[in-house]
Amino acid sequence: MKIIAIMGSPRGMQGNTGRLLEEVLAGVEEAGAETEILSLKSLNVQPCVACDICHKTGGCNIRDDFESIKEKLLACDGFILASPNYIFSVSAQMKALFDRCNGLIHCMALEGKYAAMVETSGGGEDEEVLSYMGRFVNTMGANSVGGVGSAIAGVRSFPDEEALFGKARDLGRTLCSAVAGQTAYPEQEAFISGFKERMSGLVDFMQEYWPYERDFWALKRSK
Ligand SMILES: Cc1cc2nc3c(=O)[nH]c(=O)nc-3n(C[C@H](O)[C@H](O)[C@H](O)COP(=O)(O)O)c2cc1C
Repeated sequence: MKIIAIMGSPRGMQGNTGRLLEEVLAGVEEAGAETEILSLKSLNVQPCVACDICHKTGGCNIRDDFESIKEKLLACDGFILASPNYIFSVSAQMKALFDRCNGLIHCMALEGKYAAMVETSGGGEDEEVLSYMGRFVNTMGANSVGGVGSAIAGVRSFPDEEALFGKARDLGRTLCSAVAGQTAYPEQEAFISGFKERMSGLVDFMQEYWPYERDFWALKRSK
Protein backbone atom coordinates (compact mmCIF):
# COMPACT_ATOMS: atom_id res chain seq x y z
CA MET A 1 0.00 0.00 0.00
CA LYS A 2 1.37 3.41 -0.97
CA ILE A 3 0.45 6.58 0.92
CA ILE A 4 1.77 9.96 -0.20
CA ALA A 5 1.83 13.05 1.99
CA ILE A 6 1.67 16.48 0.39
CA MET A 7 3.24 19.03 2.71
CA GLY A 8 2.14 22.61 2.01
CA SER A 9 4.17 24.53 4.60
CA PRO A 10 7.04 26.72 3.37
CA ARG A 11 8.88 25.34 6.41
CA GLY A 12 8.58 21.83 4.99
CA MET A 13 8.86 19.07 7.58
CA GLN A 14 10.81 21.37 9.94
CA GLY A 15 7.70 23.33 11.00
CA ASN A 16 4.72 22.70 13.28
CA THR A 17 2.62 20.99 10.62
CA GLY A 18 5.60 18.78 9.80
CA ARG A 19 5.81 17.72 13.45
CA LEU A 20 2.14 16.69 13.49
CA LEU A 21 2.44 15.00 10.10
CA GLU A 22 5.36 12.93 11.47
CA GLU A 23 2.94 11.34 13.94
CA VAL A 24 0.32 10.57 11.28
CA LEU A 25 3.02 9.00 9.11
CA ALA A 26 4.21 6.93 12.09
CA GLY A 27 0.66 5.50 12.28
CA VAL A 28 0.69 4.80 8.53
CA GLU A 29 4.04 3.03 8.80
CA GLU A 30 2.91 1.03 11.85
CA ALA A 31 0.09 -0.24 9.63
CA GLY A 32 2.72 -1.47 7.16
CA ALA A 33 2.23 1.03 4.32
CA GLU A 34 4.96 2.66 2.28
CA THR A 35 5.12 6.46 2.58
CA GLU A 36 6.49 9.29 0.47
CA ILE A 37 6.54 12.98 1.39
CA LEU A 38 6.12 15.53 -1.39
CA SER A 39 7.11 18.89 0.05
CA LEU A 40 5.80 21.84 -1.93
CA LYS A 41 8.61 23.90 -0.40
CA SER A 42 11.13 22.19 -2.65
CA LEU A 43 8.83 21.46 -5.58
CA ASN A 44 7.77 24.02 -8.15
CA VAL A 45 3.98 24.31 -8.54
CA GLN A 46 2.99 27.51 -10.29
CA PRO A 47 -0.52 29.01 -10.06
CA CYS A 48 -3.10 27.92 -12.65
CA VAL A 49 -3.33 30.29 -15.65
CA ALA A 50 -6.85 29.23 -16.65
CA CYS A 51 -5.85 28.17 -20.19
CA ASP A 52 -8.28 25.20 -20.08
CA ILE A 53 -5.72 22.92 -21.77
CA CYS A 54 -6.22 20.26 -19.06
CA HIS A 55 -9.91 20.01 -19.95
CA LYS A 56 -9.03 19.65 -23.64
CA THR A 57 -6.02 17.30 -23.48
CA GLY A 58 -5.74 15.96 -19.93
CA GLY A 59 -2.29 17.54 -19.54
CA CYS A 60 -0.91 20.85 -18.34
CA ASN A 61 1.30 23.14 -20.43
CA ILE A 62 3.06 24.73 -17.44
CA ARG A 63 6.49 23.12 -17.23
CA ASP A 64 6.93 22.53 -13.52
CA ASP A 65 6.48 19.71 -11.00
CA PHE A 66 2.68 19.47 -11.15
CA GLU A 67 2.47 16.62 -13.67
CA SER A 68 4.75 14.41 -11.55
CA ILE A 69 2.67 15.13 -8.42
CA LYS A 70 -0.46 14.33 -10.43
CA GLU A 71 1.00 10.99 -11.55
CA LYS A 72 1.82 10.13 -7.92
CA LEU A 73 -1.72 11.06 -6.82
CA LEU A 74 -3.18 8.85 -9.54
CA ALA A 75 -0.90 5.96 -8.61
CA CYS A 76 -1.19 6.04 -4.80
CA ASP A 77 -3.74 4.19 -2.66
CA GLY A 78 -4.18 7.06 -0.23
CA PHE A 79 -2.87 10.55 0.39
CA ILE A 80 -2.44 13.07 3.18
CA LEU A 81 -2.81 16.82 2.78
CA ALA A 82 -0.88 18.84 5.36
CA SER A 83 -1.04 22.62 5.60
CA PRO A 84 -0.67 25.40 8.13
CA ASN A 85 -3.66 27.69 8.62
CA TYR A 86 -2.94 30.80 6.55
CA ILE A 87 -5.73 33.36 7.03
CA PHE A 88 -8.45 30.76 7.66
CA SER A 89 -7.38 28.64 4.70
CA VAL A 90 -4.45 26.61 3.36
CA SER A 91 -1.03 28.03 2.43
CA ALA A 92 -0.63 29.63 -1.01
CA GLN A 93 1.61 26.70 -2.00
CA MET A 94 -1.20 24.23 -1.24
CA LYS A 95 -3.85 26.42 -2.88
CA ALA A 96 -1.76 26.59 -6.08
CA LEU A 97 -1.74 22.79 -6.12
CA PHE A 98 -5.52 22.62 -5.52
CA ASP A 99 -6.16 24.98 -8.44
CA ARG A 100 -3.89 22.99 -10.73
CA CYS A 101 -6.03 19.93 -9.90
CA ASN A 102 -9.01 21.49 -11.70
CA GLY A 103 -8.87 18.89 -14.47
CA LEU A 104 -8.69 16.04 -11.93
CA ILE A 105 -11.72 17.55 -10.19
CA HIS A 106 -13.76 17.76 -13.41
CA CYS A 107 -13.05 14.05 -13.90
CA MET A 108 -13.31 13.21 -10.18
CA ALA A 109 -10.23 11.20 -11.08
CA LEU A 110 -9.32 10.09 -7.54
CA GLU A 111 -12.55 8.13 -7.04
CA GLY A 112 -11.91 5.05 -4.88
CA LYS A 113 -8.95 6.60 -3.02
CA TYR A 114 -8.80 7.73 0.61
CA ALA A 115 -7.27 10.79 2.21
CA ALA A 116 -6.52 12.35 5.59
CA MET A 117 -5.81 15.97 6.49
CA VAL A 118 -3.31 17.57 8.86
CA GLU A 119 -3.34 21.22 9.92
CA THR A 120 -1.77 23.51 12.52
CA SER A 121 -2.49 27.11 13.42
CA GLY A 122 -1.16 29.88 15.61
CA GLY A 123 -4.43 30.24 17.46
CA GLY A 124 -7.40 28.33 16.04
CA GLU A 125 -10.02 27.84 13.32
CA ASP A 126 -8.46 24.41 12.79
CA GLU A 127 -11.77 22.75 11.89
CA GLU A 128 -12.45 25.40 9.24
CA VAL A 129 -9.23 24.61 7.39
CA LEU A 130 -9.58 20.83 7.83
CA SER A 131 -13.12 20.99 6.53
CA TYR A 132 -11.99 22.98 3.46
CA MET A 133 -9.29 20.40 2.69
CA GLY A 134 -11.85 17.61 3.22
CA ARG A 135 -14.18 19.20 0.68
CA PHE A 136 -11.31 19.40 -1.82
CA VAL A 137 -10.68 15.66 -1.26
CA ASN A 138 -14.36 14.90 -1.98
CA THR A 139 -14.39 17.02 -5.16
CA MET A 140 -11.56 14.82 -6.47
CA GLY A 141 -13.90 11.87 -5.88
CA ALA A 142 -11.93 10.52 -2.89
CA ASN A 143 -13.20 9.79 0.62
CA SER A 144 -11.85 11.60 3.64
CA VAL A 145 -11.13 9.44 6.67
CA GLY A 146 -10.82 12.56 8.84
CA GLY A 147 -8.29 15.10 9.95
CA VAL A 148 -6.18 16.21 12.84
CA GLY A 149 -5.49 19.84 13.63
CA SER A 150 -4.27 21.95 16.50
CA ALA A 151 -3.19 25.37 17.55
CA ILE A 152 0.41 25.45 18.70
CA ALA A 153 1.93 25.91 22.14
CA GLY A 154 5.41 26.86 20.92
CA VAL A 155 7.81 25.84 18.18
CA ARG A 156 6.87 22.29 17.08
CA SER A 157 4.93 21.80 20.32
CA PHE A 158 1.22 21.63 21.08
CA PRO A 159 -1.16 21.79 24.02
CA ASP A 160 -2.12 18.32 25.30
CA GLU A 161 0.48 16.82 23.04
CA GLU A 162 0.11 13.20 24.14
CA ALA A 163 -3.59 13.09 23.24
CA LEU A 164 -3.00 14.99 19.98
CA PHE A 165 -0.20 12.68 18.86
CA GLY A 166 -2.31 9.65 19.80
CA LYS A 167 -5.11 11.00 17.60
CA ALA A 168 -2.62 11.65 14.78
CA ARG A 169 -1.25 8.09 14.89
CA ASP A 170 -4.81 6.71 14.96
CA LEU A 171 -5.59 8.79 11.88
CA GLY A 172 -2.64 7.24 10.03
CA ARG A 173 -3.78 3.74 10.95
CA THR A 174 -7.41 4.57 10.00
CA LEU A 175 -6.26 5.78 6.59
CA CYS A 176 -4.60 2.42 5.93
CA SER A 177 -7.50 0.35 7.24
CA ALA A 178 -9.93 2.36 5.06
CA VAL A 179 -7.80 1.60 1.98
CA ALA A 180 -7.48 -2.08 2.91
CA GLY A 181 -11.19 -2.51 3.70
CA GLN A 182 -12.55 0.00 1.15
CA THR A 183 -14.53 1.59 3.99
CA ALA A 184 -17.76 3.35 3.00
CA TYR A 185 -18.41 6.86 4.30
CA PRO A 186 -22.16 7.29 3.74
CA GLU A 187 -22.18 10.85 5.08
CA GLN A 188 -19.83 11.89 2.24
CA GLU A 189 -21.76 9.97 -0.41
CA ALA A 190 -24.47 12.65 -0.83
CA PHE A 191 -21.90 15.36 -1.52
CA ILE A 192 -19.78 13.16 -3.80
CA SER A 193 -22.72 11.89 -5.86
CA GLY A 194 -24.22 15.41 -6.14
CA PHE A 195 -20.86 16.77 -7.26
CA LYS A 196 -20.48 13.89 -9.72
CA GLU A 197 -23.78 14.83 -11.34
CA ARG A 198 -22.63 18.45 -11.50
CA MET A 199 -19.23 17.66 -13.08
CA SER A 200 -20.69 15.15 -15.50
CA GLY A 201 -23.33 17.73 -16.53
CA LEU A 202 -20.71 20.47 -16.90
CA VAL A 203 -18.52 18.30 -19.13
CA ASP A 204 -21.58 17.36 -21.23
CA PHE A 205 -22.40 21.02 -21.65
CA MET A 206 -18.81 21.80 -22.70
CA GLN A 207 -18.22 18.62 -24.73
CA GLU A 208 -17.40 20.49 -27.94
CA TYR A 209 -14.54 22.36 -26.19
CA TRP A 210 -13.30 19.77 -23.68
CA PRO A 211 -12.79 16.52 -25.68
CA TYR A 212 -10.48 14.90 -23.13
CA GLU A 213 -13.00 15.24 -20.31
CA ARG A 214 -15.87 14.24 -22.62
CA ASP A 215 -14.07 10.97 -23.45
CA PHE A 216 -13.04 10.44 -19.82
CA TRP A 217 -16.66 10.65 -18.64
CA ALA A 218 -17.91 8.45 -21.52
CA LEU A 219 -15.50 5.74 -20.32
CA LYS A 220 -16.37 6.31 -16.66
CA ARG A 221 -20.11 5.98 -17.35
CA SER A 222 -19.57 2.79 -19.39
CA LYS A 223 -17.85 0.98 -16.45
C1 LIG B 1 1.13 34.08 6.32
C2 LIG B 1 0.65 33.45 7.60
C3 LIG B 1 -0.70 33.46 7.89
C4 LIG B 1 -1.17 32.88 9.06
N1 LIG B 1 -2.52 32.94 9.33
C5 LIG B 1 -2.99 32.40 10.48
C6 LIG B 1 -4.38 32.46 10.78
O1 LIG B 1 -5.20 33.00 10.04
N2 LIG B 1 -4.81 31.90 11.94
C7 LIG B 1 -3.93 31.30 12.81
O2 LIG B 1 -4.38 30.82 13.85
N3 LIG B 1 -2.61 31.21 12.54
C8 LIG B 1 -2.12 31.74 11.40
N4 LIG B 1 -0.77 31.66 11.11
C9 LIG B 1 0.12 30.87 11.99
C10 LIG B 1 0.41 29.47 11.44
O3 LIG B 1 -0.78 28.83 11.02
C11 LIG B 1 1.06 28.57 12.49
O4 LIG B 1 2.21 29.16 13.02
C12 LIG B 1 1.36 27.20 11.92
O5 LIG B 1 1.56 26.30 12.98
C13 LIG B 1 2.61 27.23 11.03
O6 LIG B 1 2.85 25.93 10.59
P1 LIG B 1 4.25 25.52 9.93
O7 LIG B 1 5.31 25.73 10.99
O8 LIG B 1 4.09 24.11 9.54
O9 LIG B 1 4.46 26.41 8.76
C14 LIG B 1 -0.26 32.27 9.97
C15 LIG B 1 1.12 32.25 9.65
C16 LIG B 1 1.57 32.84 8.50
C17 LIG B 1 3.05 32.84 8.18
